[in-house]
Amino acid sequence: MVLISPSILSADFGNLRQEIKKLDDSGADWIHLDVMDGHFVPNLTFGPQVIKSLRSATNLIFDTHLMVNNPDKMIPWFADAGADIITIHYEACDDVLKTLSSIRKLGKKAGISLRPQTDSKVLENILDYTDLILIMTVNPGFGGQSFMSDQLEKISSIRKMIGNRKIWLEVDGGINHTTAGLCINAGADVLVAGSSVFKTPDYAKNILSLKNKEE
Ligand code: DX5
Ligand code: ZN
Repeated sequence: MVLISPSILSADFGNLRQEIKKLDDSGADWIHLDVMDGHFVPNLTFGPQVIKSLRSATNLIFDTHLMVNNPDKMIPWFADAGADIITIHYEACDDVLKTLSSIRKLGKKAGISLRPQTDSKVLENILDYTDLILIMTVNPGFGGQSFMSDQLEKISSIRKMIGNRKIWLEVDGGINHTTAGLCINAGADVLVAGSSVFKTPDYAKNILSLKNKEE
């Protein structure tokens, strides 16, 4: 069963609590939180205080995507704020195994994300240290970009690499009713969706249309 993790990057930032409650009522499986630092990516969003203040709005899993330099410094902040999954970028780490281990030590699920340009081979030595692999199908930084279909082969090869390990394979960027099916066929089991969930007020219908792409 594919999981849908709506990204609140496309939500109304003046009403985040209500937006999250509405996503919860609309069949969202997780809540995707895009943390951007203005350095690793050319955009700035929100930090742990905002996440902490939203924590009581829902019991859904907080799927936290850190697009930041120096994640080691910040991981404890997000663990304290109530993140359930903390995903860091391979490209932002000096010692990725150490960083992933530090997330697990805090009792959180550890995720690793790759930019579109990063080869899937880098994951080979990481598989036993991660609970989630997040493949970017746009250049990280902004919502509403077009899906990069050249990433589908990468998704399939990572699905093979995972084998029977218990690792979620999540895809992020440009997911809509067309590209959702392509990602599911390639082996993704969690889809992040921003603009396609928030495009109309009927979030339940928009989420369902992504789920219905499952074979
Ligand atoms: C982009 C973020 C995504 C973004 C996806 O850097 O990581 O989570 O919100 O937005 P859409 O679904 O609009 O491409
Ligand atoms: Zn994201």
